[in-house]
Amino acid sequence: MFSIEIDRNQPASAFYHEFNQLAEGLISAEADPIAGMANLSSLLFNVLDDVNWAGFYLMQEEQLVLGPFHGQPACTRIPLGRGVCGTAASENAIQRIADVDAFPGHISCDAASQSEIVLPLLHDGKVVAVLDIDSPVKERFTEEDEKGLIRLVELIQDGLHLAKLS
Ligand code: SME
Repeated sequence: MFSIEIDRNQPASAFYHEFNQLAEGLISAEADPIAGMANLSSLLFNVLDDVNWAGFYLMQEEQLVLGPFHGQPACTRIPLGRGVCGTAASENAIQRIADVDAFPGHISCDAASQSEIVLPLLHDGKVVAVLDIDSPVKERFTEEDEKGLIRLVELIQDGLHLAKLS
């Protein structure tokens, strides 16, 4: 059995250190990208506070297609350059959005979402997927969250067989 025991009241850097240790355990146990992403979505959704959606979109023929996630059913295809996810993928740049209503072209899959962070996942220098996390609270994601999630993305890129996606 996998147990989640993280003190949510500790400083963000310490929290993400522990969080990423749990993530590393999941990744080292299973390198298949879909299985790994499914478990990581569950971990993110269940452990992070104030999150209503956490998951992955996978690059397929110049579109992002819905991958493993936790949360409400979501839009299945996002063209490159559209919305927060499509912008992160086309620009290969993290998008940390304090207020989704202020982001031109934001795609509202769940009306509850108020803020969002999207991080590209690379294989051989190319974006093969994005990690998307939504919150029902504005300004939910801080620079410290971003740092912790960058480390998570590094663990994913090093540990999951992302080549299978491309
Ligand atoms: N809001 C995202 C779409 C995906 S959902 O949030 C799950 C966007 O604008 O790209």
